[in-house]
Amino acid sequence: APLQARNTFRVPATADLLVEVRDAASLPELFGNAMLRDGPVLVLGGGSNLLFAADPPGAVLALGGQQIRLLADDGDTAIVRADAGVDWHALVLWTLGRGLAGLENLALIPGTVGAAPIQNIGAYGVEVRERIHVVEAFDRKDRTLRRFDRDACGFAYRDSRFKREPERHVVAAVEFVLSRTPAPRLDYAGVGAELAAMGIDRPTASQIAEAVCRIRRRKLPDPAVTGNAGSFFKNPIMPLAQAESLQRAHPALPAFPGGDDASRKLSAAWLIDACGWKGHREGDAGVSGRHALVLVNHGGAGGAQLLDLARRIAASVQERFGVALEPEPRIVGATW
Ligand code: EPU
Repeated sequence: APLQARNTFRVPATADLLVEVRDAASLPELFGNAMLRDGPVLVLGGGSNLLFAADPPGAVLALGGQQIRLLADDGDTAIVRADAGVDWHALVLWTLGRGLAGLENLALIPGTVGAAPIQNIGAYGVEVRERIHVVEAFDRKDRTLRRFDRDACGFAYRDSRFKREPERHVVAAVEFVLSRTPAPRLDYAGVGAELAAMGIDRPTASQIAEAVCRIRRRKLPDPAVTGNAGSFFKNPIMPLAQAESLQRAHPALPAFPGGDDASRKLSAAWLIDACGWKGHREGDAGVSGRHALVLVNHGGAGGAQLLDLARRIAASVQERFGVALEPEPRIVGATW
């Protein structure tokens, strides 16, 4: 089965076997089948966070469940459950439409609900882990559907236990804790400025989502128009002393909290930009002219070609700044 329309980089790839599952309850039976039980299985969501450097070995599994429902609601706090196949932004709009705040900063992130906990999607000062109540996933090792509460998910910046053990779990549904009491998170510089430009000083959750959408549409290439997978590299987290010495040498280099007092996260986009890659193009592979962290396929680029470009970008950042960049999307068919 062809996978070019199933990855947002729009690179060609082929699956030996593509299985679409509507009802997660059928997963235990499905994984009784020899090819799925013993062989490699790639779980595909919206295909917005992976790069096919080669064809995936084994089977490709897509979860199609589309249900969203309120599991509990005390008038303030609510638990919303969504199937893995639900489009992420559709879920954000569904919750905002019911007056539930919590996901507004994560508006317009491409991909599915099932993919959201894998890499702990985050944007504009919020990570999805803060809103996750339970992740329900099929465990191929135990051959059962299991419920993981937030602490059991092992979340970190763009990481989780599900990402660390990529072949083991198949996310079936995610439950979120949301609230009717607004608690705006405007700590990420650009969002407050965008709201001010919109003439809003006490924003509702929906207005925050609108501001985030406006920033994203301006800063990030639309995958429906130009193939890409969002940020191709993670922002590097390093010991405070190393970050401070880099910032002394390069005062314009943006930094963010590193998750604890001993570390700091630096802007990979800035480092790549400083090496001159922004807007670079070779054939149909390139770096977005809007954002240095985003690799783009102008039409006919292959996955191996994009991976080769990514490696050279990382090598140049390593050479100039002594910082090792790591890819953010999953790379299929090659190791970094
Ligand atoms: N910058 C440059 N050159 C550029 C782009 C940005 O120098 O071409 C500098 C600017 O100084 C800017 C800073 O980098 O202020 C940060 O840029 P931005 O606000 O776009 O955020 P980011 O750190 O590059 C991260 C996430 C994005 C998320 C934004 C907003 C990662 C790997 N990326 O990018 O997530 O949308 O913050 O919160 O953490 C994704 O994961 O796919 C993704 C798009």
